[in-house]
Amino acid sequence: MSTPSSARSARRNSQAWQALARHHEEQMADVHLKDLFADDAAQGRDRVAMFTRSAAGLRLDLSKQRLTGKTLELLLELARETGVEQGIKRLLAGEHVNRSEDRPALHAALRLPRSASLEVDGEDVVPAIHESLEHLAEMVETFHSGQWRGATGKPITDVVNLGVGGSDLGPLMVSSALNDCRPKGIHEIGVHFASTMDGSQLADYLESLSPETTLFVLSSKSFSTIDTLSNARTARDWLRSRLDPEGRLEALINRQHFIGASAKPEKMSEWGIAPEHQLLFWDWVGGRYSLWGTIGLPIALNVGMDNFRRLLAGAHTLDEHFRTAPLEDNLPVLLALAGIWNNNFLDIRAHSILPYDGRLEYFASYLEQLEMESNGKSVTNDGEMIDYSTCPVLWGQLGPNAQHAFYQLLHQGTQAVECDFIAPMCRYDHIEDAETRGHLKAQHRLTLANCFAQSRVLMLGDDAIPGDEEQPNHKRYRGNQPSTTLLLETLTPETLGALIALYEQKVFVQATIWDINPFDQWGVELGKQIATATEATMTSGEGFGSLDASSRALIEAIWTAQGQ
Ligand code: F6P
Repeated sequence: MSTPSSARSARRNSQAWQALARHHEEQMADVHLKDLFADDAAQGRDRVAMFTRSAAGLRLDLSKQRLTGKTLELLLELARETGVEQGIKRLLAGEHVNRSEDRPALHAALRLPRSASLEVDGEDVVPAIHESLEHLAEMVETFHSGQWRGATGKPITDVVNLGVGGSDLGPLMVSSALNDCRPKGIHEIGVHFASTMDGSQLADYLESLSPETTLFVLSSKSFSTIDTLSNARTARDWLRSRLDPEGRLEALINRQHFIGASAKPEKMSEWGIAPEHQLLFWDWVGGRYSLWGTIGLPIALNVGMDNFRRLLAGAHTLDEHFRTAPLEDNLPVLLALAGIWNNNFLDIRAHSILPYDGRLEYFASYLEQLEMESNGKSVTNDGEMIDYSTCPVLWGQLGPNAQHAFYQLLHQGTQAVECDFIAPMCRYDHIEDAETRGHLKAQHRLTLANCFAQSRVLMLGDDAIPGDEEQPNHKRYRGNQPSTTLLLETLTPETLGALIALYEQKVFVQATIWDINPFDQWGVELGKQIATATEATMTSGEGFGSLDASSRALIEAIWTAQGQ
């Protein structure tokens, strides 16, 4: 490392960080992943044992990461030196880990069992959490028994969640992943999601759904997000114009066709949500960490309250593992450390999430917010600018589909990319018809074969096929792209809960090592303010002259196109 130590931040100057930097420079910089298996006398078996750990129905395999036992030892030292053990305790004990907003980050408390207790700022938060779950359960029961009726008396058949970011991505991802767990023998509710502020998703629902039997959930922690409120206004006008042209049913429409889930009861009341249809949560639940509570209403409506509780239980099992397992066996810690090694020492700044299971279609989008909104930071907890990289660019897609889209870049592009391959070990055992089950199980095997083949080729490059070295350059694969393989025993509410909690806790560990706050998101505020001012300018022309030339030209183009 060439930077003089006086110019380095305390983090980079720390003993453990410097030891890792030296280890990289002296021992690892030129090591190819394939060498790490070749060096192992037991032909890789020891390596796999050293880098594989299981907990909560998940099997985490880091053997295809470009690290050795020595690297892991030094990374664990970094974790100790940066206070990861203490950080975990502080997080789970409800201390004010969100320093810029001076509050705890208590999403893990949302999945504590009723018998637990957790005192935060002098008050046990568990009873209130379970009360809010009871409120949720009562509502779900009313829907599933066909008792929730619209303003004209017909039972509600469709629920549209209006929310964005954490008030959309988590519920959408989980509802979709567990869609095959939908309970039988109930009054089924179609659950839909509209997030885009341009109204295009909502417009489709307004075309296809019946106003008499449709209810909207306004999901917004702040209850001030313009995207959600503008969709809500359009939805309310649609209901009023269709069900109440004479304006007599306003209160009934508000009551029977809207539920609110928010941390701001006064704003819900102001909007017109009936107090008994307000689902509350707390400031200390971050938006992107909120699917575990009342923001999870669409999940519970789709898969039933029992499955929702199983999701919470799975996440809690992972939290317990996170709290009690030593660092060297701790799944979130190990996953985090692999990322730190790639990002801060191997200079790999791109991370792709590749689930090999169609039910996890929205998992990568969900993680994009979780990871990048949490750890896309460049200021320490003490407000100092930092001099090392934090969250990588993270994106993803269903692995099998991505194979036919962007894997070319992974295999032959110029970017180094870390990949997470995620798949269930078993599938389709519940299918009754033997022939269909046989076909689907064969498809599952094919999918796993593709998953394993891809991580192998990414690791070994051409060497995956011995004797194939005589190819022209355009047919050559360099390999050496590190990856993690994460296997779920099967995809159930419990293992999905554990999987999500694994990534949440991983994000926290990385933030602790980087000394950043993963629970705020000040970086999105300025954009919101400027958007409000820009809308005013586009409507009235006010402030137009003070804009930059590029933005003025864009607005003029719109005015011209719209004949203004
Ligand atoms: O703008 C970012 C953000 O605040 C996210 O953190 C959040 O998940 C999303 O907007 C939606 O916020 P709300 O739930 O308050 O509508």
